[in-house]
Amino acid sequence: MIALTINGQAHNLDVEPDTPLLWAIRENAGLTGTKYGCGVAQCGSCTVHIDGVAVRSCSMPVSAAAGKRITTIEGIAENGVLTKVQQAWLANEVPQCGYCQTGMIMAVTALLKDKPKPTDAEINDAITNICRCGTFQQVRAAIHAAANA
Ligand code: FES
Ligand code: FES
Repeated sequence: MIALTINGQAHNLDVEPDTPLLWAIRENAGLTGTKYGCGVAQCGSCTVHIDGVAVRSCSMPVSAAAGKRITTIEGIAENGVLTKVQQAWLANEVPQCGYCQTGMIMAVTALLKDKPKPTDAEINDAITNICRCGTFQQVRAAIHAAANA
């Protein structure tokens, strides 16, 4: 058993220590907003926060997240109020199929915490998530909108 704290809730999960955190979140904790894309830390669809830092959960063993504060897409809105990033996503109609978008939002949320007004170069450096629908221009617009909200 591994004890995890996800979105402020304690979970005791029956998983092997080397299970990827992504599978513990999705299959054991039942939080399916975090998506599997590549499984090798390239696409970013599995991004969650560990102690506020964006992490690709497909490539982190669940044992490494024990005792840390894990936040998933289900946990960023407070009291049902969407964050300014989520609101900017809706206002800019960013999602197409939507598959990559939760990872995008988690990565962008972490970026704006570190850099409240990121330049395009800083966005390029930090947001390396892949979107097969090609929403990159809308993502950039929504990041600037959230930064200026
Ligand atoms: S599924 Fe984790 S980076 Fe692609
Ligand atoms: S919105 Fe479809 S993969 Fe990004």
